[in-house]
Amino acid sequence: MDVAAGQVAVITGGAAGIGRSLAKQCVAEDMRVVLADVESDVLVATAAALREQGGEVLEFVCDVSDADQVEALAQAAIGRFGAVHLLFNNAGVSGGMNSWASTLNDWHWVIGVNLMGVVHGIRSFVPHMLAHGEAAHIVNTASIAGLISGSSMAAYRTTKHAVVALSETLYLDLQRQEAPIGVSVLCPAWVRTGIAESGRNRPNNLQNATPGAGFTAHDVTKAGAVQQLVANGTDPDDVAHKTFDAIRAGQFYILPHPEMKPVVSLRMKSVLNGTNPVDPW
Ligand SMILES: NC(=O)c1ccc[n+]([C@@H]2O[C@H](COP(=O)([O-])OP(=O)(O)OC[C@H]3O[C@@H](n4cnc5c(N)ncnc54)[C@H](O)[C@@H]3O)[C@@H](O)[C@H]2O)c1
Repeated sequence: MDVAAGQVAVITGGAAGIGRSLAKQCVAEDMRVVLADVESDVLVATAAALREQGGEVLEFVCDVSDADQVEALAQAAIGRFGAVHLLFNNAGVSGGMNSWASTLNDWHWVIGVNLMGVVHGIRSFVPHMLAHGEAAHIVNTASIAGLISGSSMAAYRTTKHAVVALSETLYLDLQRQEAPIGVSVLCPAWVRTGIAESGRNRPNNLQNATPGAGFTAHDVTKAGAVQQLVANGTDPDDVAHKTFDAIRAGQFYILPHPEMKPVVSLRMKSVLNGTNPVDPW
């Protein structure tokens, strides 16, 4: 898509991390921005900072796991700005451990935000984009975890593989209809954000009765390692720049960490050669 001043972008999980960097980039491109997030105080602060940089910003408190709230977000964006051209289904959380010890609350929380949040975004915005008929683009944030094998964090990995599959299907369905709507799936590795502290936004009704119960020593080691890797990760502004390059180029798969390609290749080779999954770490 040709990114142009005046276009309207909606960003879920826009208050912090990668979403905030995408919003900064939108403002730098003179786009108008609708910032959605469940963490209201951070949302208000980020929106105010973007306005100070000259941005025209509407902030909207929204839990993406709730279809009605995402529909209300779409109505608010259309009501304020008339049309939406760029949608970032970016909100996500990290949680859970191996697949049998993760609680049902772990599964419901992570699937609700990471997968159903993207489904809700597609269902509320794509019909509007098809109706207005102008060029549009959707970026779904998955993860490198959606392209590789690995142990622990079963719910997270499951949702990210699902977001890759959902995005591929969305792309092909829109192509088949010759709709002027591009799609990309963003698959970063480690980015310096608050993802390792996702529990801050976990709703009360999906808390675990005994936090940490069932964690194996491997889960604990893995969680610590992830925290370190995120803390030493890429600046989210770099991920936002690469994402905008991909939107302009109409590129579907966005891998901001090319050094991870051998790990993706390892999984693809296991599938094609009939060998068993390998934990790359
Ligand atoms: N940071 C990384 O290393 C990394 C790597 C790969 C993929 N990702 C993905 O990037 C995306 C953004 O995460 P981040 O790294 O910027 O983390 P982050 O925690 O800094 O930002 C996530 C944002 O989503 C918001 N959010 C959480 N639950 C929400 C909900 N139910 N509804 C609406 N908003 C909600 C949070 O308040 C926060 O502002 C996620 O989908 C994540 O899985 C991150």
